[in-house]
Amino acid sequence: MVLLKQMQKKLLAVQKRCTQAQMDNILRQRGERQSLTHQNERTLLFIKPDGVMRGLMGKIISRCEQKGLLIIAMKLLKLNRAQAEKFYDVHHGKPFFKALIDHITSGPILAIVAEGPKAISVARSLIGKTSSFEAEPGTIRGDFGISITKNVIHASDSIENAEMEIAFFFKKQEILCYEKATEKKLAL
Ligand code: CMP
Repeated sequence: MVLLKQMQKKLLAVQKRCTQAQMDNILRQRGERQSLTHQNERTLLFIKPDGVMRGLMGKIISRCEQKGLLIIAMKLLKLNRAQAEKFYDVHHGKPFFKALIDHITSGPILAIVAEGPKAISVARSLIGKTSSFEAEPGTIRGDFGISITKNVIHASDSIENAEMEIAFFFKKQEILCYEKATEKKLAL
């Protein structure tokens, strides 16, 4: 009984902080996530102004959901130049930097946090190669992108960058914890 109360208290505390890794461990201890073979990851995606303004948000969100990524936060916003330059600081000084910032600040973007086993590599495969000209048909960029700059969507390329990019767009309390209704049945 004492043990059960301790477990419930721990679960509540963890849920409050919403740390997915801890949630996974607790759920596994409770026997509710035993079947997951991969630790969940979180990744940051954003649909760029070309994707938003061409009315592609629904199609792109749908592809993420079909692939099994769980959308746990979403925000439509417009970046100013300083914010866009900060986000893409790693590309500062590159020949395409100005065109990239011009494009990213030209209209709204839809920032998304998606979660799932190997979410970072899954999302990268889903979006395809950086250049829309080279991206395979069937990928988001392959099907909808029209150039390298107007390549519809961005996705984090590593766990470290995903953490930084998620924190760039979202406060902790804006990221939700919930399970897909089918998760227990379909988890690997
Ligand atoms: P993204 O994944 O958002 O990361 C950096 C962006 O810079 C990239 O997508 C492209 O939209 C843009 N970009 C423009 N030209 C290039 C280039 N030659 N190489 C890489 N990225 C480029």
